[in-house]
Amino acid sequence: MTNFEVIIYQKQDGIGYVTLNRPQALNAYNLQMRDELYQVLGAIKDDPEIKVAIFRGAGERAFCAGADLTEFLTAPSPVVARQVRWERDVWGLFLSITKPLIAALHGYVLGSGIEIALCCDIRLASEDAQFGLPELGLGIIPAAGATQTLPRIIGRASALESLLTGRWITAKEAHRLKLVNQVVSRADLLPVAERLARRIRDYDPIVVSYAKQAINRGLDLNLEQGLELEAKLSGFFNGQSELRHPC
Ligand code: COA
Repeated sequence: MTNFEVIIYQKQDGIGYVTLNRPQALNAYNLQMRDELYQVLGAIKDDPEIKVAIFRGAGERAFCAGADLTEFLTAPSPVVARQVRWERDVWGLFLSITKPLIAALHGYVLGSGIEIALCCDIRLASEDAQFGLPELGLGIIPAAGATQTLPRIIGRASALESLLTGRWITAKEAHRLKLVNQVVSRADLLPVAERLARRIRDYDPIVVSYAKQAINRGLDLNLEQGLELEAKLSGFFNGQSELRHPC
């Protein structure tokens, strides 16, 4: 187990567990968390022992209540802010990971909380989860990818409605919108996430990585290009084994 200040990172049986750990501030995303998350994501990406990772929030009340409002817009200047962003592109790193990532969401899932969840591949919510994008009310737009990742998951109209109205949605509605894959009881949240993670972990990690890339990268291509990508990725297995390339 690696304990940072505001993130707990554990490795167990091929599964990485990332816990946002500022429960007293509803796991609000601050600069410290950004720096620690950057290190943890790098470890998940590079560590061959990690096959899949689960993201969750510490405490009873929240996965993450968004950006830390006490640090809000405190960067000294847009130039410095941009430089920091280039040096620590957490969101680019998140989206570049080809291992499956699972978000286990409970309580408040706001702003950057949703954005972290959107960088994951499978989202599970407990019945008490509440989702919202409060950015416009704060006079800003999301900056951790939500304007791009959200419409790719729930479609343009629902993404626009969520962002432009700032209306909070329940776990049930999030499921209806396909923002989350499943809604489970709070007690079942981690066990269900672990069940999925173990199943994925037991597959060949290269096949898993190619499957993730084929879908995620393919969605940004037209059908013809997407099929080319699939052919290219599946072609890597040609000649290796009939089982690996059954089609
Ligand atoms: N940044 C920093 N601290 C935060 C926070 C945030 N985004 N969200 C909650 N906290 C802190 C509160 O300041 C409070 O700290 P305190 O106990 O030292 O006073 C603690 O977390 C508990 O929050 P509180 O507001 O008392 O709980 P609540 O149940 O009354 O309300 C929320 C919960 C989520 C509705 C409310 O905290 C909230 O609106 N947070 C801000 C959400 C937001 O706008 N995020 C930014 C998105 S870009």
